[in-house]
Amino acid sequence: MTDNEKTTKNCCLFGANGGIGAAILNQWQHDPHVGSIHAGARSSDAGGPKTAPFAFDLTEEASIAAAANNIGVSGPIDTVFVATGMLHSDAILPEKSLRAQSAESYAHAFAINTIGPALIAKHFLPLLPRDRRSVFAVLSARVSSISDNRIGGWHAYRASKAALNMAIRNFAIEMARTHPQAIVVALHPGTVDTKLSRPFQRGVTPEKLFTPEFSAQRMLAVLDTLTPVDSGNLFAWDGQRIDF
Ligand SMILES: NC(=O)c1ccc[n+]([C@@H]2O[C@H](COP(=O)([O-])OP(=O)(O)OC[C@H]3O[C@@H](n4cnc5c(N)ncnc54)[C@H](OP(=O)(O)O)[C@@H]3O)[C@@H](O)[C@H]2O)c1
Repeated sequence: MTDNEKTTKNCCLFGANGGIGAAILNQWQHDPHVGSIHAGARSSDAGGPKTAPFAFDLTEEASIAAAANNIGVSGPIDTVFVATGMLHSDAILPEKSLRAQSAESYAHAFAINTIGPALIAKHFLPLLPRDRRSVFAVLSARVSSISDNRIGGWHAYRASKAALNMAIRNFAIEMARTHPQAIVVALHPGTVDTKLSRPFQRGVTPEKLFTPEFSAQRMLAVLDTLTPVDSGNLFAWDGQRIDF
């Protein structure tokens, strides 16, 4: 990305109150090239410099459509970052075996990890500029990779993120026809110390457990290096492309 392309971007974040999302918000608030931030969360209002909060729920398309209508009037969005997702909840734990599967856990994982981000794409990809570089990034996970899957488990989470990758590839193909400078990608943040990973950190060595700040800073740096040729792929925090 050239310095010219970096001037005062209009950015939009989904999941501003999440572990990684809050760190992305903090990075943007301190980035002089980011002019304005639309920060979306399900409940809490994300405040701070140059930040306008909005409310949305991944399971309510109307809330995503309303956010797009309101935010769209401020002009094209240069960067959309979707930092939402779920691995476990009070009622759902990632499966270790075939018999642990349930329709409910699949439905919930797909609603949050696949369908919600796809609906954000439906309403926000049209807000990207047609005449300059733009980025639409969603948090996927390395475990979404089918070719990289050696240990199995976490059936619904893996499947929902693999489906997200497919949607991202589809959206990249479609966007290239009308927005040739758009970059539509999935990201793997590394193993990051957040609410989502906390129950599963036991086997992770300290140097492989990232702070949200480190992961956010690295992923934003990776996004800066990407070009439209990279669109439709999955990239890790260190810039490496992960095969689907
Ligand atoms: N942490 C890791 O090690 C790791 C590794 C690989 C991939 N990832 C991916 O990174 C993403 C972010 O994870 P994280 O670690 O930052 O987790 P987190 O701290 O639990 O954040 C999850 C975010 O998703 C939001 N969310 C969940 N359901 C929602 C809904 N129905 N509507 C709107 N927002 C909703 C949460 O909002 P509420 O607070 O309102 O629930 C929160 O902002 C996920 O997609 C995850 O799969 C994380």
